[in-house]
Amino acid sequence: MKSSPRTQDWPNFLRVMNPFITANTAAASPGLVPEIQLYLATEITPLWRSCEKFLQRENIPPPFWALAWPGGQALSRYILDHPETVRGKRVLDFASGSGLVALACKKAGAVAVTANDVDPMAIVATSLNATLNGQELNVLHDNLIGRALPEVDVITAGDFCYEWPMAGYAMEWLRRLVGEGKTVLFADPGRPHAPLGGFIELFRIAVPTTRDVEDSETKSTGVFRLLADE
Ligand SMILES: C[S@@+](CC[C@H](N)C(=O)[O-])C[C@H]1O[C@@H](n2cnc3c(N)ncnc32)[C@H](O)[C@@H]1O
Repeated sequence: MKSSPRTQDWPNFLRVMNPFITANTAAASPGLVPEIQLYLATEITPLWRSCEKFLQRENIPPPFWALAWPGGQALSRYILDHPETVRGKRVLDFASGSGLVALACKKAGAVAVTANDVDPMAIVATSLNATLNGQELNVLHDNLIGRALPEVDVITAGDFCYEWPMAGYAMEWLRRLVGEGKTVLFADPGRPHAPLGGFIELFRIAVPTTRDVEDSETKSTGVFRLLADE
């Protein structure tokens, strides 16, 4: 496993966080993606509670990495059913969370996949999930928004339109990358900050969810190819 951590004391962080993740989650497959296993929160509320104090002390966000979000599940399903989308290509999975979409891309035949997230815990979880699935992923703990990505053919992004202004900046950046010749695939279950146009819908599916996290038991989720102009 190659990695590019920016965390100051990464070995110590891993020493503490690897057992924290395995102790507070269980290996399971997301409903729509039985091909992949992840360390997931079985009951989200206890995990959130046990994480809260610990993660606040470490100045780390809530455990988004412990859920397979509707966007990530729909995008993974689409990629596994249409492997030609990524086969032989270099992929960056932006806002990777658990690394689900990155793993789907690797399984579908991408030559190199980098899972990127600003949350260091997501990077640790993705590394554990890669090992769980016997796959090799690159991991990158950094904020790439606005940066050039010369060594990538395809960018995937599942369920990142949940927060403003990040969603706006990210969408503007991703459209610029499309203008530079990259393919950008994203998936969204109707989050408030998702774009209203400037994409082609490739696939739509009802993703089973839980009322602990979402406002309904299924979320109609679209998979889209982004266009350069809105
Ligand atoms: C709702 S989760 C989605 C995770 C995964 N893509 C999925 O669909 O299951 C959103 C993720 O975006 C990450 N994120 C937020 N801002 C980011 C940024 N500027 N760069 C990379 N990741 C970011 C969060 O840390 C979180 O892991």
